[in-house]
Amino acid sequence: MTDWTSLHGDSFAGSRAMVTGAGGFIGSHIAEALVKLGARVIALDDLSGGERDNVDVAAASSPGSVEFVEASVLDESVVRRAMGGCRYVFHQAALPSVPRSIEIPRQFHEVNVTGTQALLDLAVESGVERVMFAASSSAYGDSETLPKIETMPALPKSPYAANKLAGEHLMRAYASCFDIDTVSLRYFNIFGPRQNANSVYSGVIAIFAKMLLAGEAPTIYGDGEQSRDFTFVDNAVHANLLAAASTTPIDGEVINVACGVRITVNELVETMARLMDRSDIQPVYRPDRAGDVKHSLADMARASNLLGYTPIVDFATGMDATVAWYRQALGAVG
Ligand code: UD1
Repeated sequence: MTDWTSLHGDSFAGSRAMVTGAGGFIGSHIAEALVKLGARVIALDDLSGGERDNVDVAAASSPGSVEFVEASVLDESVVRRAMGGCRYVFHQAALPSVPRSIEIPRQFHEVNVTGTQALLDLAVESGVERVMFAASSSAYGDSETLPKIETMPALPKSPYAANKLAGEHLMRAYASCFDIDTVSLRYFNIFGPRQNANSVYSGVIAIFAKMLLAGEAPTIYGDGEQSRDFTFVDNAVHANLLAAASTTPIDGEVINVACGVRITVNELVETMARLMDRSDIQPVYRPDRAGDVKHSLADMARASNLLGYTPIVDFATGMDATVAWYRQALGAVG
């Protein structure tokens, strides 16, 4: 729905960019925008969580401009070959989910931290100009103050949060030691079309969409008064493109990417039920989830100052588009 050309002109025309995790939710949206802007995209994914279909959707406007490479970020020789000539790397590949990271922390470290470092080494070797890293708002943990400002100390509460924080530190260190620029974009609960709804580890909006469409009661962990700065995916894409196109070095800075509005899980379920004509369905309450952060809300000043970022799609508009997409994609379920 976003007109990327009116926002980013020809900044990417003819440039070569790698998107890791391009079969995943956010990666496929970045790849799609880059294709529309005339870039040649190397779409890397090991399909452990991502889907080939997402790469095809991303490539739809210009199929010849996407090269799909099925490999893990840890697969050094394949990634080295694929990265040749790339000016940008959008590093989205990761094992996601706070609760799953508590079950298999070592695997999370391997992919999310070792994988990130391996990618950075190859990016330096390949002469990549800038790496955009998918960092996470989970790094803030439960610090009392809201909104969360990038200068606050990080207090990771889960292996996932610690992994993403380690990735940020690597980004900064590599920008300082090597001839490469990097940036860590701290995503705040990104949602939108193509977010996987088929796992207990999926994001809450995807899970609620699936449950409500199936006529089932969503589960709320805790009292539902926890809140998140839910951010429509096009905002994350926009921040990535602004960062890549920056004419000045970003030097490994950490930058919040969000909308700056806080919504509780109770409000979320109510809104979604209404949009899906299922206000008759009442959620079921269960105990708090381990590793969960209570409140999350971004301060947006640094994103605005360093990137010129302001949100391009607000929560309500994004939610309409998302509900419409799940209705179509999962309609058969309900
Ligand atoms: C966290 C990060 C986010 C990251 C994501 C990766 C924070 C603030 N955010 O998201 O940046 O991208 O991990 O996985 O740490 N919930 C329910 N019922 C459900 C599912 C979830 O009530 O069926 C609740 C959770 O308990 C949580 C909220 O919804 O309070 C959001 O959960 P989820 O979508 O899993 O994301 P976070 O863990 O907040």
